[in-house]
This record gives sequence, C-alpha cells and structure tokens, in this order.
Amino acid sequence: MQRIAVVPGSFDPVTLGHLDVIERAAGLFDELHVLVVHNPDKSALLPIASRVSLLERAISEGGLPANIVVASWNVGLLVDYCTDVGASVLVKGIRSQIDVAYETPMAIVNRDLASVETIFLLPNPAHAHVSSSLVRQVAALGGNVAPYVPDAVSEFLQGERR
Ligand code: PNS
Repeated sequence: MQRIAVVPGSFDPVTLGHLDVIERAAGLFDELHVLVVHNPDKSALLPIASRVSLLERAISEGGLPANIVVASWNVGLLVDYCTDVGASVLVKGIRSQIDVAYETPMAIVNRDLASVETIFLLPNPAHAHVSSSLVRQVAALGGNVAPYVPDAVSEFLQGERR
C-alpha cells in the first residue's frame, strides 16, 4: 500500500523553512502532496496560482525528490482532499510553543473528522526563526528577503517591486 501524506499551508510565500520540512517529509512517504490552502485568517500577499508556481519552481530548482506533487484546495475541508488522494497523514513543521498551540486543535479535529493523523517535524535550526509573515513584512518594507526564501521567490518579489 502506498503511504501518502499532505503538507498543507498558506505558503504565502514558500520559505526555506517550508522547503526543509517538505524535503524531509518526502523522504518518509511514497508520495507527498504539498497543498496550498487559502487561510481566511491571514491577509494574502500572493494569489494562490503564484504560490503554486513558486512552490513548483523552488522544488524543482532545489533538487527535491520527484515524489512531490503540488496542488491547491479551496472547496472544503482539508481532510476531504486527503480522502480524495488517499492520504492518511498530515505533516506540519513546528518551530515553537506558539506553533504547538496553533496546530494541536487542528490536528485533533482532523483526526476526529476523518481519522487523518498529524505528525510534526522540528525545524532545521538554521530556519527556525523564518516565517512567511516575517518575509511578507520585510518585503513590504523594501528589505532583502533572499536569506529566507528560495531564489524563485526572491526573484519574483524583486520583479513585483520594479
Ligand atoms: O500556513 P498556515 O496558514 O498556517 O496553514 C493553515 C492551514 C491552511 C493548513 C489551515 O488553516 C487549514 O487546515 N485549513 C483548512 C480548513 C479546514 O479543513 N479546517 C477544519 C479542520 S482544522
């Protein structure tokens, strides 16, 4: 039986921290879906289509494993997508106690809804301070985001500024 997992997130934009979690999760499963999900609690920087194409570029330019699929989802519960693709596990990166507090209720609800388990990966310490919201703020104020994001994102955001 294929072991299929999903890494969901806003990815607005994808960061080096996300890529690290995605690469390590891809090594644990036969197939890994990286799923861009609209989060109504956050004000978006990039449209979903741009987030998907930046993820695809970052994954291929970063030489990540070929068992990764990038998709987006905006029509229902995250666990409905899991059921559709036969995934029984969600993978999330956890950087701090704040992340644990944010993720724990969602993990319990997703297990209640569809018996989908959540596993948490600890970050590479080099990226433990990096978040999309920090990148959005630095980019909005004209700072250099290159240390925190894949080249594809850095180039895209520079292009937006011109
Ligand atoms: O990168 P983010 O913004 O922290 O990702 C949060 C996300 C998109 C994974 C979360 O908001 C989510 O799971 N949304 C899907 C909606 C859903 O299924 N909700 C009910 C169970 S928690």
